[in-house]
Amino acid sequence: MDKPSDLRCEYAKNPLGLGTASPRFSWIPPRGERGSRQSAYRILCSSSLAKLESGIGDVWDSGKRDSDRCHLVAFGVESPSVSPQESQCAPLRECSRYWWSVETWNGGQSSRSDPAFFDTALFESATWKASWISMPAPEFETTTVLLVEGSINSNRHIPSRLYHGIYLRKEFELKARPTLAKAYFCGLGYGELYVNGQKAGDRRLDPGQTDYKEGALYSSYDITDSLRAGGNAFGIVLGNGRYIEAYGFGKPRGLLQVLLEYGDGSRQTLLSDGTWTCSRGPILHNGIYSGEVYDARLEEAGWAEAAFAAEGGVGGGNAAGWQPVEIVDGPRLRSQEMPPIRATGELPPRTMSSPDPGVFVFDFGQNFAGVVRLRARGASGTAISLRFAELLTKEGRLHLGTNRESQSRDGFILRGEGEEDFEPRFTYHGFRYVEVRGYPGTPTLDAVRGIVLGTDVAAAGSFVCSDGLVNAIHSNILWGQRSNLMSAPTDCPQRGERMGWLGDAQLASEEACCNFDMAGFYAKYLEDIRLAQRSDGSLSDVVPPYWPLYPADPAWATAYPVLAWTMYWNYGDERILERHYEGLKRYVDFLDASAEGHILNSLGSYGDWCPPGTIYPKKTPMAFTSTWYLYHDTLLFSRVAETLGRRDDAAAYAARARDIAKAFNEKFLLGDGRYATLAMSPIDRSVGQTTQALPLYLDMVPTGQREGALRNLLGAVVTNADSHIDAGIVGTRYLFEVLRDTGNSDVAWDVITQTSYPGWGYMVSEGATTLWERWEKLAGMGMNSHNHIMFGSVDAWFYRSLGGIIPLEPGWTNVRVAPKTPGSLTHASATRMTPRGKLSAAWSRSPWLRGDGAERHASARASSQAKACDGGSSGGLGGAGSSSGAGSAGGGEFRLALSVPDGTKVHVELPYAELGRELREGGRILWSSDGIYPDDAGSVEAVFDDAVVRRGDILAVGVGSGDYEFLLSW
Ligand code: BGC
Repeated sequence: MDKPSDLRCEYAKNPLGLGTASPRFSWIPPRGERGSRQSAYRILCSSSLAKLESGIGDVWDSGKRDSDRCHLVAFGVESPSVSPQESQCAPLRECSRYWWSVETWNGGQSSRSDPAFFDTALFESATWKASWISMPAPEFETTTVLLVEGSINSNRHIPSRLYHGIYLRKEFELKARPTLAKAYFCGLGYGELYVNGQKAGDRRLDPGQTDYKEGALYSSYDITDSLRAGGNAFGIVLGNGRYIEAYGFGKPRGLLQVLLEYGDGSRQTLLSDGTWTCSRGPILHNGIYSGEVYDARLEEAGWAEAAFAAEGGVGGGNAAGWQPVEIVDGPRLRSQEMPPIRATGELPPRTMSSPDPGVFVFDFGQNFAGVVRLRARGASGTAISLRFAELLTKEGRLHLGTNRESQSRDGFILRGEGEEDFEPRFTYHGFRYVEVRGYPGTPTLDAVRGIVLGTDVAAAGSFVCSDGLVNAIHSNILWGQRSNLMSAPTDCPQRGERMGWLGDAQLASEEACCNFDMAGFYAKYLEDIRLAQRSDGSLSDVVPPYWPLYPADPAWATAYPVLAWTMYWNYGDERILERHYEGLKRYVDFLDASAEGHILNSLGSYGDWCPPGTIYPKKTPMAFTSTWYLYHDTLLFSRVAETLGRRDDAAAYAARARDIAKAFNEKFLLGDGRYATLAMSPIDRSVGQTTQALPLYLDMVPTGQREGALRNLLGAVVTNADSHIDAGIVGTRYLFEVLRDTGNSDVAWDVITQTSYPGWGYMVSEGATTLWERWEKLAGMGMNSHNHIMFGSVDAWFYRSLGGIIPLEPGWTNVRVAPKTPGSLTHASATRMTPRGKLSAAWSRSPWLRGDGAERHASARASSQAKACDGGSSGGLGGAGSSSGAGSAGGGEFRLALSVPDGTKVHVELPYAELGRELREGGRILWSSDGIYPDDAGSVEAVFDDAVVRRGDILAVGVGSGDYEFLLSW
C-alpha cells in the first residue's frame, strides 16, 4: 500500500512562516482496494526529526482516531474517540521548527507518511525588535498615478513621488556557523534580501500587496546555508511598489529580524537598526506602471558582502558614500502564508522584426504578465530602452493604446564589461511584444527572454478535449488567470489599473479553483477584504482599497461571501467561515439596509458590465443585478450560518431571502417567465440573456413560469442573438450553467464555439492569446485591455459540463461525473485535485455519432448496418477510448475512464442510455438493455448503488474510490 502523501500544514508544504499557533494538517490518503476509505489516522508532531523518526510525538500525539478526515485536522484539538492519555499536546512556540507525520489506516492495513515540517513564525507583536529603516532623503521623480474617485467615470491623475532604488547594508561577525538561521523580512513596497551577496529565496515583487494602513506581510527565509563563522553581510534593495504617497504611504522602508541557533543550543537575534547604512545604487527609477531604469555603471560589486566596508573591499568596492539609515515607522506585520510571486516560466521570442532603422520588435507569441531579460554587450554608457505592448500596428510598430496611462518601459545602461544581463526587479508589464531601441548592433533572438511573473499557485486541474477551438479558449483563460494573480486578483496586467477589482475576482473564482490551488491565495485575499470593510458593513469595489471605492457595486462586493464559500466548498475550510462570519453578516445587513422594499435601487455602478457593444449594461437594469445579488448573498449567508450551526441566523436570513425573491419577482417578472429588460431603442423589445438566466440559476422563478422563463431564455440566445453571447460579465458567468442544468448543453456549446462576433471563438480567430476585456476587438485608449480574466468564467463550464465533474458537497466527498457530449465533440478529459486526491474523468465516443436528438437516433439506426464505421477510435486520448473498438459489440460506443480518490463517492451519469445495448466496466457486464444479465452482473466492487439505473437518456451508477473503465456500446 502507498503512503499518505502531499502533507500540508495550513495549505502549504513545509511552510517556513506559519503565523498561527493552531495550524491544521492535511494529507492525501493512500488509495487501497476499490472503494477504500481511510478508516483512522494518527498524527505525530515532534520537536525534532529524530524524535519523530523514533515515533515520539512530544509536541502532539493525536492518538489513533477513527475518522476518514484527511483535511484541515486542527492541531491539538481533542477527539472524542481518543482518551486524553492517548492524545497529548504541548503549545507551539514561535520561531520554531516542528516535524510531523501521519499514519493512516484503511481497514486492517496502516501506513505512515514521510516526515514533513513546519516552521512557526512570530506570533506576538512584542517579539518584533527590529526597526523599520529607510534612506534619509532619497531623490524622487514626480509621476502621475491614476486615481479612480467614486466611479469609473471620475478618473483623476494625481502626482506621486517615485523614489530611486534604495540599497541598505550591514556587516556582522558570527562566533560560529549557525545550525539554523531564519530571516523574517519585509521591504515596502517591494524588497529583496541579500545574504553574503546572494539573493535570499526566489520571491519576486514581494511582499504581497496589502493595505499597509492595516498591516503588511513579512516573508520567512531559511538562510542557514548562506551564513558562516566570521564576517557576514546583509543587503536589502527597496522599490516603490504600491507603498507610495498617492495611496497614503511614504518612501520605501525595510525591516529584518534574523534568528540564529547554534550547535551549543544558544540563540542570537540580528536586527535592522540605526547601525545599517544606505545608498542609492543603480536603480534610477522603478514603478509598477512606469517600468525600471537601471544604470549598471552604478553597480557596486560586493555591496552585500562582508569586507566591503573596508577600503578596497570585495570587488574593489567600498562603503564610502554610504550613509547612516533613518529609523522610520512602519505597519503592523503578519506572516505571508500564501504562495509568493515567482518567475513561473520563460518564453523565447518567436520572431524579430525591424520596422524602423535601429528599432527591433520581438514577438513572444503569447500575451502575458512579466518582464523581459535582456542580454547585451557594448560600450559603457550605451542606453538600451525597452517598450512593451499587447498589439502591433499594421506597420509592425508597437501599438501602445491598451497600455493607456502605463508608460510600460524599461531602460538599461551598459556598464561596458562583457556580456551583461538586465532583468528589472520592481515592475512588471502586460505584453506580447517588446520593442528594443539603442541596442549595440543587431540583436539575435537570444537577446531577450520573456519572464512570466505571477503568484506561484500550483496547478490543480487540467482540461483537454477533441475541439481545438475550445482548447485554445481554455489556454487563453489559463494565461489570463496566471497574468492576473499578482498577490491580489487583478483585472489586467498592462494599463494603469492592475487592481483587485472584486467583480473580476468573484466571477473568475470558480474557474480559478478548477485550474489552480487557490486556497492560500484566497485565504489572504479574504483577509484583505475583511480589513477593507467599513464599520457600516460596506466594502470597496477595489481591494486592497488603494482606490477606496465605497460602497461597492453588489456584483463586485459579493466577492466576500462568494470567496468565503469557495474556500469552504472547494477546500472544506470551515474555519474561514467562522473567521468571516461577523463580517459577512455585516455586509449582508448593509445591503439590506440599503434596499427599499427589498429592492436595491442604489449601490449599482457597473451591473452586467461589458455586454456586446458597450461597457454599461445594455439590457439588464442595474437594480435587477443589484437585487439579484442581494438575494444571492442573503441566501448564501443563511447557508454559512447553517453550516456553522447558527440556526437562528440560518432561519432568519433564509426567510429574508424568500422575501427578497418575492419582491424581485414582483418588480421584474412581467409574466410568462419573462423578465424586464432595458430597451436600448424603441424597437428593441427583446428579452435578455442575463435577465432570464439569473433568476433561473437561483431557482427564483415561480414554478408555473419556469417553462416560460426557459423558453424566453432560449429565445434570447438562439433567436435574438443567433446563438451568440449577448450578456455582460455577470450573465456570462451563470448562463451556461443554466443551459446545462435545463438540458441545453448543445445550445451552450453553439454559443461558446462561435467564431463570429461576439464570443470567445471570435477572440481566438482574431489572434487573441488571452481574453479581452470587451467582446469587441478594440485597440484604443478606452476600456479594452487584451488580458482581462472576467470572461474566463466559462472555463468552469468546460470542467463541469464537458469534463462532467461537479462536486456535490463541500470538501469533495460526494461528486457527480456527468459529462455532456455536445456538438461534434468526441472526447474530453478533466482532472481536479481534491482534498482527498486527484479525480479524473476522460470520455470518448464514436466519432461518427454527431449531435443529439433526431440525428443521434438516425445515427443509431444506421449503426446497425454501418459496419464500415470505426467503432472506437476517437483518437488522441490516453485511457478512455483510444483503443480501437475493444469490447465494442455494436456500431458505436461511449467510454469513460474514471479515477476516484480515497473516500470519495462518485455518482456517474453516462449519456446515450437510449442507444445503449450493454454497459460494461472493466469487461464485466453491468447493465443490459434486454434485461438479461450474466450471473456476475452488478458485482463490480465498489459500485455502491445496487444497480445501474436508467433515467431517460442517462445510465446512473454510483462508485467509490478506484479506477474504472466504463464502456457503453450499441
Ligand atoms: C476594470 C474592470 C473592473 C471595472 C469596474 C475597470 O476599469 O478593468 O475589470 O471590474 O473597471 O467596472
